[in-house]
Amino acid sequence: MDQPCIIDLPKILDRRGNLSFIEGGNHIPFAIRRAYWIYDVPGGEVRGGHAYRANREFVVALSGSFDVVLHDGRQEYRYHLNRSYYGLYVPEMMWRSMENFSTNSLALVLSSTDYDAADYIRDFEIFRQEAAR
Ligand code: TYD
Repeated sequence: MDQPCIIDLPKILDRRGNLSFIEGGNHIPFAIRRAYWIYDVPGGEVRGGHAYRANREFVVALSGSFDVVLHDGRQEYRYHLNRSYYGLYVPEMMWRSMENFSTNSLALVLSSTDYDAADYIRDFEIFRQEAAR
């Protein structure tokens, strides 16, 4: 799977409160190696602005809402995430930014690899060249 896509998660509706869950390799197409989350984002701030050569991600708006803007070197894709029962699969070699965070939003990111600074491409022109190969 090398295209970004929205993946619906299981949703167990219960009058005591709803429950959703993610199993790596089952609901998302990779084994979960790492989780991080982005929170307390001041209004107007943008996170990301880079691509990963190998790392793949799954992004969920656990609370609030934000936009994920992707670029594959040819075209841009924009997703508005605002529910905790679905998320966005982001394959490797996608330029990615996150913006438009609502107050008190919480972005959960599940990753396929350990953190590795060498896996980042932080220059869009270099990304375009590598993506065109
Ligand atoms: P970064 O991925 O550059 O965040 P953004 O692109 O949203 O600005 O990460 C910010 C800092 O956090 C950077 O110094 C590296 C560190 N970091 C880790 O140490 N481990 C991680 O898993 C992540 C995602 C970041």
